Amino acid sequence: MCDDIPVMTLDGPAGAGKGTISRAIAMNLGWHYLDSGAIYRSLAVAVQDAGVPLDDIDGIVDIAMKMDLSFGSGGTPAVILNGCMITDRITTEICGNITSKIAAFGPVRQALLQKQREFRRLPGLVADGRDMGTVVFTDAQFKVFLTASAEERARRRYKQLKEKGIDVSLTHLAKEIEERDRRDTERSVAPLKMADDAVLVDSSDMSIDAVIARCLALLNT
Ligand code: DC
Repeated sequence: MCDDIPVMTLDGPAGAGKGTISRAIAMNLGWHYLDSGAIYRSLAVAVQDAGVPLDDIDGIVDIAMKMDLSFGSGGTPAVILNGCMITDRITTEICGNITSKIAAFGPVRQALLQKQREFRRLPGLVADGRDMGTVVFTDAQFKVFLTASAEERARRRYKQLKEKGIDVSLTHLAKEIEERDRRDTERSVAPLKMADDAVLVDSSDMSIDAVIARCLALLNT
């Protein structure tokens, strides 16, 4: 029974460290990992490639239903869309911003629901996103809402991009993060919010190891 398969959900705003933390927990437990943002981002790439306007909801849903998406394994898993590797394309800020726009449409979210639920396989799943605990896996046994201050999240993203040799302004990045937070929290469908039964973890002043330990401790409570 699917419901017996344990799930830990990690929801939170952009740049809170969900990806790093979720991957580490999945690795530690030997569980599967769902990067739901990568599914939404891949759809944004598919929509762009098809030249579908961002307000054509039916067109976007059609692409969501038909896209052939698979993920490789490893630290930064390869993302393969309709036979093409798009791993790098989904990480850009532009892609993130387009994604947040199309992710606001209810029918689009509905079209991606099943794809996400299919990741729930034994021995367990760590699911990272915005609505994992509130919509996709409401019956998850362990729910975390991971956040950090907007300044700290902008700083982390800035460091990440710098390391990749991408030149960005910290002020511009902070503004974009705040704008994306607003869009993700204010949308009417599946807005970013903490599930009633989630545990709040503010990682602003915590090390990665401390956050991982805090999440893993939930399994023993
Ligand atoms: O986590 P991320 O930065 O890869 O997500 C990119 C965008 O996708 C984000 O702005 C909101 C959207 N998203 C969503 O609406 N629901 C999810 N479960 C995951 C991501």
